Amino acid sequence: MNGIYNASPNQFEFQQAFHQYIILTRIISGPGCVSEVGAHAEKLKGTHALVVTDPVISKLGLTEPIIESLQKNNIETIIFNEVEENPHWQTIDKGGQIIKENNCDIVIAIGGGSSIDAAKSMAMMGTNEGSILDWEGIDLFPNDPIPFMVVPTTCGTGSEVTRGSVITESSRSRKLNVGSDRMRANVAFLDPLMLANIPASVASATGVDALTHAIEGYVSNIATPLTDSLLIGAIKLISDNLRSVVADPKNVTTTLNMQFAATIAGMGFNNAQLGIVHAMSEPLSPVAGVPHGVANAILLPHCMEFNLNGRIEKFAQIAEAMGENVEGLPKHIAAEKSLDAVRKLVEDVGIPSGLADVGVKEEHISPMVDQAKVHGLLNFNPRRVNAKEIEDIYRKSL
Ligand SMILES: [Fe+2]
Repeated sequence: MNGIYNASPNQFEFQQAFHQYIILTRIISGPGCVSEVGAHAEKLKGTHALVVTDPVISKLGLTEPIIESLQKNNIETIIFNEVEENPHWQTIDKGGQIIKENNCDIVIAIGGGSSIDAAKSMAMMGTNEGSILDWEGIDLFPNDPIPFMVVPTTCGTGSEVTRGSVITESSRSRKLNVGSDRMRANVAFLDPLMLANIPASVASATGVDALTHAIEGYVSNIATPLTDSLLIGAIKLISDNLRSVVADPKNVTTTLNMQFAATIAGMGFNNAQLGIVHAMSEPLSPVAGVPHGVANAILLPHCMEFNLNGRIEKFAQIAEAMGENVEGLPKHIAAEKSLDAVRKLVEDVGIPSGLADVGVKEEHISPMVDQAKVHGLLNFNPRRVNAKEIEDIYRKSL
């Protein structure tokens, strides 16, 4: 089966065909590898680059080695450092306009999921008319985007190897998805030095987002042995390395391992898709202002508990991959140990355990249920789910 989730607002259409596996991005990794950005931009025939980032990354000077590398290769550079958390459609349209006005022929994202998603959509808007709102859905725009490269500065999004970008329409308190295989990054640079000063709260939230991608993809109902082997590997890598990255991101070995884990999880979930956690966490940002990774981290154990009976064997394998001793245990007891492992990890990296701790209120629940209950990702969840069950999980998570 090939899962394709498609189009209309928050209502992805699921088509079944054959399985497929796609990865179109060249991945360069190692401490200092961003010095190669300019050479790769040149290979992609770039002459005028738009560097897309956020004000914090820009202020920290993380853009400097990349700009230096671009200059070394005689590539003119414009910096757009206005990407906000959960980027708004107006920001994308502004970036697209800058590309058109300055004849930019390559886009480089430096940052976390917000900057990567924003840059991915800007590269598309650089060659297409109208607004990003006109192209909501999968592969609906006519013109190929300009080349696009990514330098992640967090260890969570996986957006460096996925085809989609998530954009916020705040006037309607919702997110929209724009994606295409034509929007995938040409090159991704996994450089642990870019994470050397990552705040602990960002490392933990993005790291648990990667864990959520890996677990949801692993138990998805369109998983294959190909995606399974990637995703169980990512779960193990995250379990083994995330605590260390939160404690000391300057350790290049464990930090690079986490960067690989986030990318591997992206390679897996972009083909196996996600499930109820992301369907429920997506409304938490526009409705209640909760960062994506934190929302996932709080919902994850509750949603795993809900899904447990749908994938007993796989949850037992997750427990084992996360270091739980499951030898000789009945499968359902071993499966329950995956909940213990996730709760321990989330607690160890300092993420609050309840939605109330991050500002979610009773009155937020009803609008969030309305969005989550029609979310297309529920098609891939290993257990069917109704609105009442979604409401119960939100309440339990408070
Ligand atoms: Fe996510």
